[in-house]
Order: sequence, then C-alpha cells, then structure tokens
Amino acid sequence: MNQILEVRRGDGSMSKVAIGNVIGELEKFLPEGARVIVVTDRNVMRYYGDLLSRYECIEIGLGEEHKTLDTLAHIYARLLAAGADRKTYLLGFGGGIVTDVAGFAASTYMRGLQFGFVASTLLAQVDASVGGKNGVNFEGYKNMVGTFNQPDFVLCDTALLKTLPEREFRAGLAEIIKAGLIADQELFELFERHDFDRFRGDEALLTEAIVRAVRVKKTIVDRDEKETGDRKKLNLGHTFAHAVEKSTRDFIHGEAVAIGACMIADISAGLGLLTPEDNRRIRSVLERMELPTASGVGLPALLEALKSDKKKDADSVDLILPNGIGDCLIRKYSFDEIERLADTYIQH
Ligand code: GLY
Repeated sequence: MNQILEVRRGDGSMSKVAIGNVIGELEKFLPEGARVIVVTDRNVMRYYGDLLSRYECIEIGLGEEHKTLDTLAHIYARLLAAGADRKTYLLGFGGGIVTDVAGFAASTYMRGLQFGFVASTLLAQVDASVGGKNGVNFEGYKNMVGTFNQPDFVLCDTALLKTLPEREFRAGLAEIIKAGLIADQELFELFERHDFDRFRGDEALLTEAIVRAVRVKKTIVDRDEKETGDRKKLNLGHTFAHAVEKSTRDFIHGEAVAIGACMIADISAGLGLLTPEDNRRIRSVLERMELPTASGVGLPALLEALKSDKKKDADSVDLILPNGIGDCLIRKYSFDEIERLADTYIQH
C-alpha cells in the first residue's frame, strides 16, 4: 500500500515522501502547467526513456567522480541555454548522486527553483534524496559544497528497484539497517527474520522497510533539519565509512557504511554501551545480507584518512555510538582518543 510521509522544512511547509507504486502519480506532484526540466543520468534514460520523453532532460555523468562543480556548471549552462527562468521546475530523477547535484543546482540557479525528486535507487529512497542535504564534492572532500534545502516531494517507487543491480540493492539495505540501529529496533529485527531474497522479492516487506527507514529519518530531520545536534545520528557508521571510501575504491557507499557500522559497534561494545550479544547481532545481520564487515585496510591508514577530513573540527570528531539496538548517542572525541579506542576495541 502506498504511503506518504511528510518531513518538516525550515519554513514550516512539508516535503512529501511517497513510497510504494507511486511513479504513475508523478504528474500530480508536479505544479500544474509548469515547465519541467529533468536532471538525470544515462542509466535512468536507458530504463525510463519512454517516461522521460515528455520532458526536457539534462544528462549528467555516472558515478561519484561526476559529483563536481563542473557537472553543476554543465547543468547551469544547459538551463541558461534552454531559457529556464525562476518558474521552471527541476526534477531530479536518479540515485543519490543525481539527486544531490540536481538539488544543489535547483537551490542555486537564479537563487532557487522549485524542485522534486524521483529516487531510483534504494540508497536514494531511504537516505540520500530525503531530508534536503544536497551538494557536490570538492578537492577530494565529500559533500564539501552544498545547501540544506528539501525538495517539494520525493517519489520512492519500489518497482524502479527491480532494475537495480544486486550489489547496489544490498548497499541500500545497509542504510536501512543503519536506520534500525539508530532508532527502530523492530526494523532491525526484520533483518534477523528475513533473508536477502525476501527483501529483494517481497514488495510488501521491502515497502515496510523503506517506510520505517524514512520515518526514522523524518523524525530526526523534523527536529534538526540543519544538523546542529540530533541529525548527526544519521551519520552512524559514516565516520569510518568515509575513511574507508578515502582509502580504497573497493567499496560502494552503502558497503562502506556496513563496515563503518561494525567498527563503531565494536567501539560501543568496548565502552560498555552495547552488550557483546547486541554487537554480535549487528555483525550477523550485515553478514546475513552479504554486506562486508571489514575493509582489509589497516587501522593506521584508516585513522590517517579520518584525520585528514578537513570538514571535521580541528582536533575532534563526533562519534555516533550505538547504545543498544534502536538507540544511539553522540559523543565528541579527540583524534588521539579515537586512535586509542580503535586500537583497543575494533576487531580486525
Ligand atoms: N545522510 C545523512 C543525513 O541526511 O543527514
């Protein structure tokens, strides 16, 4: 059954997230009579060319290496050449890279156009496209330039996930498991009861998992859209995940999040916040979904990568520590302390 969740925006209006078989409703979400320009990529064009043929489209390159200011400049140039003005509506149709870049282009072109998203990957449906973080990478740093600006709507159609490669689907599940760990024990337990093939093949189960993950995110973004406090919890596993992604190209984002979640769970268990049994459950759920739980990168290299992330405060970083399944807390540590915790507690 289709569900619509609403996420509160800074101005008090609501960003709608529609989940289920919702792609047929697209026209209803677009403002009547508006000129719509779509930002998308080659994969989406290949699978959904028919649907997109009724719109003007701007295609961007595939992959994280295209999440750049150059891609943004390409979109601005195309909008300018097409005579797009402030009444033009931008639709980002794709995975997290497309929605991050399209959201930033829409937020900045002529000081801001209205925009919405169709999220075509599981990772985009449960995390990237929801909550208004958009932007591009800069000088090797992820999401260094961007804005907080939520779309009018996000359509999360489970049918679109049928064409998603299995590896990307699994990586999306890692972000759902992360949401369960942060604030929804029952969501986490779905992964103890069902195997990968059920999530891949059972639309009702998958829809329930997506709805619950989006609800976790919505509840947090409602109270802290600009990440001054609680929203940091959504980064559980990400401090080490980004270090993994900086150190090796072996893993896609969701896989790195699975590894990062195991690392932080080990630290939490070492600190006595997580029982050894709950720590084992986290690792075992990720293994059950055939997600990686270790990077193979040595700890010194990972800690070096973590330290070199310029976005962090000068000498400390917020760690998001699981405090049981479905609960977590934020604690600031110096790099020296993180090094000691990692050395002492992370299982290799
Ligand atoms: N992906 C984490 C957040 O949106 O805050």
